[in-house]
Amino acid sequence: MTEHTASTGRDSRPREADRLLRDRARAVIPGGMYGHQAAGPLPAAYPQFMAGGRGARITDVDGNEYVDLMGSYGPVVLGHQHPAVEEAARAQAARGDCQNGPGPVMVELAELLVATVAHADWAMLAKNGTDATTMCCTIARAQTGRAKILAARGAYHGAAPWCTPRPAGTTTADRAHLIPYTYNDLASAQEAAAQAGDDLAGVLVSPFKHDAGFDQELVDPAFARGLRELCDATGAALILDDVRCGFRLHLGSSWEPVGVAPDLSAWSKAIANGHPLAAVLGSDRFRDGASRVFVTGSFWFSAVPMAAAIATIRALRDEGAIEAMRRSGEALRDGICAQARAQGLEIRYTGPPVMPYLTFAGDQDYALASVFAAEALRHGAYLHPRHNWFVSAAMTGDDLALALAATDQALAAVRKHLSQ
Ligand SMILES: Cc1ncc(COP(=O)(O)O)c(C=O)c1O
Repeated sequence: MTEHTASTGRDSRPREADRLLRDRARAVIPGGMYGHQAAGPLPAAYPQFMAGGRGARITDVDGNEYVDLMGSYGPVVLGHQHPAVEEAARAQAARGDCQNGPGPVMVELAELLVATVAHADWAMLAKNGTDATTMCCTIARAQTGRAKILAARGAYHGAAPWCTPRPAGTTTADRAHLIPYTYNDLASAQEAAAQAGDDLAGVLVSPFKHDAGFDQELVDPAFARGLRELCDATGAALILDDVRCGFRLHLGSSWEPVGVAPDLSAWSKAIANGHPLAAVLGSDRFRDGASRVFVTGSFWFSAVPMAAAIATIRALRDEGAIEAMRRSGEALRDGICAQARAQGLEIRYTGPPVMPYLTFAGDQDYALASVFAAEALRHGAYLHPRHNWFVSAAMTGDDLALALAATDQALAAVRKHLSQ
């Protein structure tokens, strides 16, 4: 994109613009920045502020360009500024976005989601993943007339008081109706269900265990089937939190390849390739509860993100994007694992290849992960030391080669750090 103005890798430009923006932010934004994109916990070399991106490349405010292995923490699945998505958004913006009622695109998108996702008989739209997971719980409660929700220990389902991982500002009452279980441990889910007794409204689960900072764990199909049976036996809703994985692993629910259909599913991140949108999809059994809850937001009916979502889903299908991501993800994994072997480094590379996470043996405090990430950044690859990465469908052979050249240098730096 910015070949003439940006600089990739080792000869990176000093972060003067970033430093000045951080200074200004500290004065007017609590803590200087908040939430998952706060650069504070990242190695010092990471920029806080980004200027733009195209395809699989992003540029920071000082003009340094990187191969993007984070995809804005999930939303950017087709690559930045995907032409068909941006054209659809522009065309809709020219007609109208935030109006007194939704545009026809809302019905078109709901129809497309219902046609694309096997378990969905209906769709409701919102803005963020937290809206969607919260709505799923509310709908499950409205339908069943019960209160308790089972959720896996350590799983992330959003930032509302009932699910935020940080307790500041919340009360114990906010989480009073949540009962924890252990991911992939059916007996623990059954025990939690027994604890809920006849008050079980729903079982919340992610497609695989993708808790930040830990090796990732794919779902055991027997566990997924066991949760389905538990919900069938109790009348509770099986709620799949597909916010992070949706439309990355499969063009449909992430559990379609596993053969397990949820009653309700939560979506956001990738469904509109970076435009702000979330969805709750559900089966007919929960349609009545869904029609009785009052859920809304000033911007939930905006037409532009809906037009972008329709273009995103069509592009995912027509451009074979899921398969392209899988191929790039596997090439990245094979390359990094070979580099680690060559360096004699013991790593674990877990999760699906399109959403991988790398850890180093014995790296309790993430010191090695931080050396690795900082050096990868210096050589032009933007990845994360404590969160899974996201491989986009826009990765070209050149992007992959640049990313692998950066990880090679980064692994060499880890080797050197260990021998010091
Ligand atoms: C699995 C999962 N659920 C829910 C959320 C919350 O989504 P949002 O940040 O859009 O509210 C996230 C966000 O990272 C997520 O990964």
